[in-house]
Amino acid sequence: MRLFNFDRIRFVGERIVWHIAASLRLKVTHPSFHLLHTFSIAPDAQFGRSARVQVFEQAGTLKIGARCSIEATLILERANSLIRLGDDVSIGEGTVIHSAQSVIIGNHVLIADAVIIRDHDAHGLMFSQRREERSRAGLGERYWEVVSIQPVTIDEGAWIASRAILLKGVHIGRGAVVGAGAVVTGDVPAWTVVAGNPARPVKQLTPEQ
Ligand SMILES: CC(C)(COP(=O)(O)OP(=O)(O)OC[C@H]1O[C@@H](n2cnc3c(N)ncnc32)[C@H](O)[C@@H]1OP(=O)(O)O)[C@@H](O)C(=O)NCCC(=O)NCCS
Repeated sequence: MRLFNFDRIRFVGERIVWHIAASLRLKVTHPSFHLLHTFSIAPDAQFGRSARVQVFEQAGTLKIGARCSIEATLILERANSLIRLGDDVSIGEGTVIHSAQSVIIGNHVLIADAVIIRDHDAHGLMFSQRREERSRAGLGERYWEVVSIQPVTIDEGAWIASRAILLKGVHIGRGAVVGAGAVVTGDVPAWTVVAGNPARPVKQLTPEQ
């Protein structure tokens, strides 16, 4: 019987080095950051000075594709939450993406500055739930059971303009445009421009345009 499994030791060593490098590059902030998170980041992805990643529970997954340019804060809030960016995604300063389950962004998506994308409401709708939430927070627990969580998906080529808010469960179709300051509460079909609060279609595009 071998006393040491050198392959295993090397694997763990590489993983530690990789995570230290990734966490420095991404300014990963939170004491709970540890090796159970899966980060897959294209070597040519670029992170600006204001880009950062926050992880709150174990085993989140962050995937960032080729040539992405990120100035945003990306938050993996719950165990097994996922943020996945395709290739050539650009995200501006002050934008915050909150994932408690999954936020998936396709190739060539342009997200402006100060956008908020969240796949969950963060709190229960009822006062009794929020009161219970406070007492659990004192014990260091999140009360996810009462929080409405639904995945967010943004398809290839969409453009989310400044200060838009995308709420839980929305699906932004291919090539769609969300106008500045819009609050999106439902799905946006492909090649459609929406604006307002709640966002409504204001213009139709065609794929050739
Ligand atoms: C207000 C809120 C909690 C309501 O959630 P909900 O009860 O699940 O609401 P629903 O998604 O069922 O929406 C009900 C209706 O209100 C509308 N609506 C919901 N939130 C809205 C908003 N913020 N602005 C405008 N309209 C909104 C929906 O379009 C829907 O209208 P419809 O029936 O005509 O389609 C939620 O929409 C929200 O704003 N979540 C974000 C919470 C947040 O910012 N948390 C941050 C940390 S405190």
